[in-house]
Amino acid sequence: MAEAALRVLFATSECAPLVKTGGLGDVAGALPRALARLGYDVRVLLPAYPALDGLGREEAGAIELAPAGGLPGARIVPARLPGDLAAYLVECPPLYARAGGPYLDPDGRDWPDNALRFAQLARAAAWLGRERGDGGWSAQVVHANDWQTALAAAYLAFSPAPRAAVLLTVHNLAFQGIFPAECFDALALPREAFSISGMEYHGRISFLKAGLVYADAINTVSPTYAQEIQRAPLGFGLEGVIAARRDALCGILNGIDTELWNPATDPFIARRYDADTLAAKAENRAALRAELGLADDAGVPLLGIVSRFTEQKGLDLVLAAAERLLDAPAQLAVLGSGEPALEDGFRRLAAAHPGRVAVVVGFDEALAHRIEAGADIFLMPSRFEPCGMNQMYSQRYGTLPVVRATGGLADTVEDGVTGFVFREPHAEALAAALARAIDAWRDPARWRRMQRAAMARDFGWTQSARRYGALYAQITRPISSGCASSA
Ligand code: ADP
Ligand code: GLC
Repeated sequence: MAEAALRVLFATSECAPLVKTGGLGDVAGALPRALARLGYDVRVLLPAYPALDGLGREEAGAIELAPAGGLPGARIVPARLPGDLAAYLVECPPLYARAGGPYLDPDGRDWPDNALRFAQLARAAAWLGRERGDGGWSAQVVHANDWQTALAAAYLAFSPAPRAAVLLTVHNLAFQGIFPAECFDALALPREAFSISGMEYHGRISFLKAGLVYADAINTVSPTYAQEIQRAPLGFGLEGVIAARRDALCGILNGIDTELWNPATDPFIARRYDADTLAAKAENRAALRAELGLADDAGVPLLGIVSRFTEQKGLDLVLAAAERLLDAPAQLAVLGSGEPALEDGFRRLAAAHPGRVAVVVGFDEALAHRIEAGADIFLMPSRFEPCGMNQMYSQRYGTLPVVRATGGLADTVEDGVTGFVFREPHAEALAAALARAIDAWRDPARWRRMQRAAMARDFGWTQSARRYGALYAQITRPISSGCASSA
């Protein structure tokens, strides 16, 4: 099967479980594996962050990348990710060997040299997307993800053929990689890239715009989001650029890692269960209440939240509706971190309602699993949501989600069947949807039916990985640059 052996470089700035700040990490940790299972020769490209120091590296296969523009020299070193997935690490100690997160310093500020850090990553991706004449591996498709690797499309667009085709996956259009015009010279791109039909954006440079303009195809992580970004406000200023590339744009829904997120085998939870042993879920709820200091009151549903604290996630709606939610009555368990105002708001809420609201500020993978298993209802009132992973994890755990009808939430939750959906981004609409959820919770037979319907949904990666495969095949055919599956 010729297409199955296609060589794909999956370029990403994070990859679960080693480096993760959100859903991109989850996708990068699972989609390449799903593609490998389908027979693709897929390799993951990552910066050599300190978190990856323990990975086995094949020094003999290292490729030297010469300095260019303001970008230092680097080495691209073959490595193996956990589970034996092939990878390349971009070793460039001045850019990546530091404590802190992939994007932020230990104080939560953007690294000041992020333009260089991610231009270097994209340049390495493009390097592996060209035949180098040394007989080494080169990709036929460079699969770039978000602004951090989008510039690979520009590097390759200005490379002589033969070169890899580029697919850009947009996970979140709110993050665009915009930098001052003065950074342009450091990127080692031809001058013509700095134009309105290239990566210039209101006098500055935009890495994401470069990807949108130069990629052979573009996809978002849900069909609904592919529609939403063609207009303001969710185009975030790029709606014109995106609408102009409508024919190359489609939506492919994310999947979930059904091994990592499986209540029947989850090592993090108090008691494992499946759709036939749902009564055991109550033990997880009791354990979670005990862990978080919530009152042990079986007559009150427990609401869960696991989220980045940003405007996107609509958590201010939860704060605005909090008194009504708690009066339902209900308890609330929250895990997240981000904007200080939201962190403070949730801390205050917990202080005002001891035993009824528990808030953990931080990033804790194991607790995220315990909330999915222990909560009755999961809240995700996002203002926008390109796909969203937690509403899918929740359904798999029989924890029915209450979501706003946007992006991937609209595409994955069926109102009244596997969860509860509301439209307006207002506290009243959230409270009304939650009231419907609690009514249903009070009817055990109905609740079980819904839990089983949610748990029976197939959110695995196989189908979506096949769609990506079809899209790769389409863009590597010389005559075509359209989309394999339309929104
Ligand atoms: P986004 O990528 O926009 O943050 P997603 O729903 O796609 O949203 O993915 C978020 C991922 O990050 C999920 O796996 C979620 O469980 C995880 N996550 C978010 N915040 C935390 C946290 N504070 N602790 C642990 N996991 C978290
Ligand atoms: C982004 C989006 C989220 C999506 C994730 C993975 O972080 O905010 O909705 O699920 O990427 O694609």
